[in-house]
Amino acid sequence: MLSNLAEIEQEIRSFSVNGKDELENFRLKYLSRNGLLTQLFEELKNASKEEKPLVGKKLNEVKRLAESIYNDAKAVRDQSESSGTDIDLTLPGRNFSVGTEHLISQTLAEMVRIFREIGFKVTDGPELEEEFYNFDALNTPEHHPARDMQDTFYVQNKFDKDKKYVLRTHTSPVQIRTMMSTKPPLRIISPGKVFRNETVTFKNYFMFHQLEGLYVDKNVSIRDLKGVLSYFFKKFYGEKTKTRFIPSFFPFTEPSGQVDVSCFICGGKGCKTCKDTGWLEIGGCGMVDPNVFKSVGYDPEEYTGYAFGVGIERIAMMKYGIKDIRTFYQNDLRFLDQF
Ligand code: PHE
Repeated sequence: MLSNLAEIEQEIRSFSVNGKDELENFRLKYLSRNGLLTQLFEELKNASKEEKPLVGKKLNEVKRLAESIYNDAKAVRDQSESSGTDIDLTLPGRNFSVGTEHLISQTLAEMVRIFREIGFKVTDGPELEEEFYNFDALNTPEHHPARDMQDTFYVQNKFDKDKKYVLRTHTSPVQIRTMMSTKPPLRIISPGKVFRNETVTFKNYFMFHQLEGLYVDKNVSIRDLKGVLSYFFKKFYGEKTKTRFIPSFFPFTEPSGQVDVSCFICGGKGCKTCKDTGWLEIGGCGMVDPNVFKSVGYDPEEYTGYAFGVGIERIAMMKYGIKDIRTFYQNDLRFLDQF
């Protein structure tokens, strides 16, 4: 009787119970009042004393197995009937792709890590910013021609007519906010979104990210500025990377510079990415203008400092050979999944 039961168990396991008729046949064959298992329970009475407990145990197991197979299959069938669809259990499962961190977030995290290792603290500020912090306190009063350097989104403020708001055009207002609330010395970076009213092209977008750096202390010199940026770009792009500084203009720094790094694609020899110059422009920098110190209440006779601001999209585009800034924000998984 035991070997007979093992055979029945095999049969039950391989029984196809997908269709409605098959399900009913299964019930009739094994579980109904005249079914095989019911019959075997009857026969159990005639088994010998020794055999009885063993066979009884096995019989119960097989019955539970048959019941669970039947109940599971019935539940699936009932559900598909009530939802009006016919589930095809032979179809392969649906794939859910695993999300990845956005390339801009990855790049920012990497940059922040490098600066934190050398003592910079991360600070933050609002994206909807008062004109005062974005311009005036940065030595850029109204009608100053330098305001035209950045195409600004002005925001109407119905509730407080005295204050004018803008979507911040750079991360430099965070410098002002931090200096106003902290005594020197200070060494900060502030990564974040900035906005410019520019025509969208492959290299310009109306929103992008910057990382600002500021160091204020006694006797800070332009050598410190060059040192820290050279160090950073070597860490970020590789030890062979060179950095150069070209005179430039920003109202909030004097002197001001543009930071270039040697093209890491051709190593400085000249290629398509660097337009045969061997250099890639990456950001602005300079020594904090004494007027900025005055507007935050620092004594320019006692303190000096440097500041820099770099564009994250540019930095990431160069590192990964991305040709169009818009691809960052089109949410195309074929692009995003690559990083
Ligand atoms: N805020 C400048 C810009 O967005 C960059 C910059 C930052 C320049 C700090 C000098 C010092 O163009």
